[in-house]
Amino acid sequence: MPTNPPKGNGKDLTTMKLIKEKNILEVNHLKISFKTLEGNVQAIRDVSFSLKKGETLAIVGESGSGKSVSTKAITGLLPQRLTNIEDGEILFNGKDLLKASNKELTKVRGSEIAMIFQDPMTSLNPVMTVGMQIAEAIMAHTRLDKKTAMARAIKLMEKVEIKDAAKKAYHYPHQFSGGMRQRIMIAMALACKPKILIADEPTTALDVSVQARIIELINELKDEFETSVIFITHDLGVVANVADRVAVMYAGRVVETGTTNEVFYHPQHPYTWGLLEATPTLSTDDDQLYTIPGNPPNMSNLKPGDPFAPRNPFALGIDFVTEPPMFRVTETHSAATWLLDDRSPKITPPLDIQARYVVYDRLMGRDKGASTADYGEVAIAAFESADEFGPKTFDDSVAAVEYLEV
Ligand SMILES: Nc1ncnc2c1ncn2[C@@H]1O[C@H](COP(=O)(O)OP(=O)(O)OP(=O)(O)O)[C@@H](O)[C@H]1O
Ligand SMILES: [Mg+2]
Repeated sequence: MPTNPPKGNGKDLTTMKLIKEKNILEVNHLKISFKTLEGNVQAIRDVSFSLKKGETLAIVGESGSGKSVSTKAITGLLPQRLTNIEDGEILFNGKDLLKASNKELTKVRGSEIAMIFQDPMTSLNPVMTVGMQIAEAIMAHTRLDKKTAMARAIKLMEKVEIKDAAKKAYHYPHQFSGGMRQRIMIAMALACKPKILIADEPTTALDVSVQARIIELINELKDEFETSVIFITHDLGVVANVADRVAVMYAGRVVETGTTNEVFYHPQHPYTWGLLEATPTLSTDDDQLYTIPGNPPNMSNLKPGDPFAPRNPFALGIDFVTEPPMFRVTETHSAATWLLDDRSPKITPPLDIQARYVVYDRLMGRDKGASTADYGEVAIAAFESADEFGPKTFDDSVAAVEYLEV
């Protein structure tokens, strides 16, 4: 799906709103490992993010970066025997879910925090009608009788635009298409008006037009129910249409986080640059789509330094020695890259990213002369005026390494 620049006229309103609101969910310094036959897999190494009422946070990153594990930890869905939650806290309305009893967690799961997954078939019961499944979800958390719950289930099916809901409620999951099953999952998730909806790649298995409609539906329902949403995807293309804020994950860590404008148009981490360059835009020729070279690291045998360094064309010497901390860019934006350290050599980002910076200036109202916000036009202008970039050598940053070691 192509990404259009978000509409903005001078002020980043999202930023202003975000600073004011209180967090409904806070994940702080989460560390999780798994016992496996090959040894300890350090899946989540230090993950922090937060969510406000009515807000949508997108979590993006390649396969294996830890998106699902960090959100499953919120609802206690990780395999207990094999999982070691080494550190951190998950505060839901101020209460640490990692310290909650199984009974408390069961109550939170379903009624306060609901999850939908990529493949609805794995979460739906194949031998129960869909209406009854939604009704059961309602009855588990209310005192409604079966008949009233079923009537409410049909109303919810109408809300997610299932035609002929009164009849379809008596159909079984296999009688629906993938997109329709995902709508049923959304209806089920919303049955108890959850405070938080976690959608783990809910559109990945669907074709593009169905994807777009499911995303629209989640957005509409979110506004109606004032639900906060965590939307997990490895496709940055859909993020601009859903998210207020974005957290980019790599190798079990959040490496960049900011408002959608900040991450799309003022990205600071070379991994985010790579993800953005690998996302089709209006001005990209699909034949030439870039992919980030190399593979994610083996999480059971991490080398010292930044796990992204071997794939990073902008890696400095220091990256192979010490993992970068999060550097603050604005009150809402930070990134874990040594390029933000004052002592680092100044580098020129790739051309596409420079073009995005021009758009960002425009969105922030810094570019007074410009009147149209055509991304393609801006990109071409920036391409023409930009300098070529080149990777930095180890020597460039030896000074930084020495400085840090003092
Ligand atoms: N039960 C488990 N036992 C061992 N390792 C696990 C287990 N579950 C997840 N992992 C590992 O934890 C890491 C993070 O996995 P996770 O499922 O969160 O990735 P993801 O970002 O959701 O990827 P995807 O986009 O493929 O869904 C991976 O290295 C994965 O292999
Ligand atoms: Mg996953």
